Amino acid sequence: MARRLSKRKRPRLEDKPQKERNPIAHRVFDDKTIDVLLHLLNNGVISSLDYPVSSGKESIVFRATTPEGFAAVKIFKYETSAFRRFAEYLEGDPRFTMKPTLRARVQVWAKKEFLNLKTCHGVGVRVPEPFAVRENVVVMEFIGENGVAAPRLEAITLEDPQAVAEDLVFQASKVYREARIVHADLSSFNVLFAEKPVIIDWAQGVSVRHPRAEEFLERDARNVAAFFSRQKVDVDSNAVLSAIRDGQGL
Ligand SMILES: Nc1ncnc2c1ncn2[C@@H]1O[C@H](COP(=O)(O)OP(=O)(O)OP(=O)(O)O)[C@@H](O)[C@H]1O
Ligand SMILES: [Mg+2]
Repeated sequence: MARRLSKRKRPRLEDKPQKERNPIAHRVFDDKTIDVLLHLLNNGVISSLDYPVSSGKESIVFRATTPEGFAAVKIFKYETSAFRRFAEYLEGDPRFTMKPTLRARVQVWAKKEFLNLKTCHGVGVRVPEPFAVRENVVVMEFIGENGVAAPRLEAITLEDPQAVAEDLVFQASKVYREARIVHADLSSFNVLFAEKPVIIDWAQGVSVRHPRAEEFLERDARNVAAFFSRQKVDVDSNAVLSAIRDGQGL
């Protein structure tokens, strides 16, 4: 049986490398990401990182407190990111250059989310306002009430699905016609509902000049139509697609 080392012989905590000191924190944040978070804290962009709101394959989203209120901090993970999937949405987007390493690609991915949010916000599309981007971290407006994150459209029962469908299609149309972007993963999972729909998760969004932009737009229209059909709204993907393209509404 292994015998416990006496306290005197055990290595002191401060002598251990950081990953042994706190293996769980280390699995969530690599050293570089911790540096980025410290920079955001030291520069007053956030005053504390509060708790994870969501943990997915590609990213973890935290609520943070800021001097003005709250923010959402989206941290893209280096180790589990889908290198190939990134390429599909980066290659052919004239705004970005393809990067050879995973690390650089993840950072472009974060920049892409930030720029898409900024462009959409700039033309008045309802999205979280972006505050900062640094390496693999994007800081943006926290969508919620009293610090509680808004639910995803997918998770709630809508009182007036027709009105929400019209609103969301109007937003998507502004994205296409004014921001000149296609979201490329638009679905009820990437829309939060805070009295009105707010479109999130923009990293894969492409310029309309991307060679596959129209294909992505059609897929978005199909997803939106499928969701609202389940809510008994009389709509199909062609109607959604033409409303997005012509801006005339559903
Ligand atoms: N600005 C925000 N305000 C509040 N909550 C947010 C915000 N952005 C993201 N979230 C929460 O984090 C979740 C994941 O965010 P997002 O869809 O951008 O990332 P993702 O990489 O697609 O993650 P997943 O793989 O879990 O979908 C959202 O479903 C939402 O619950
Ligand atoms: Mg998502």
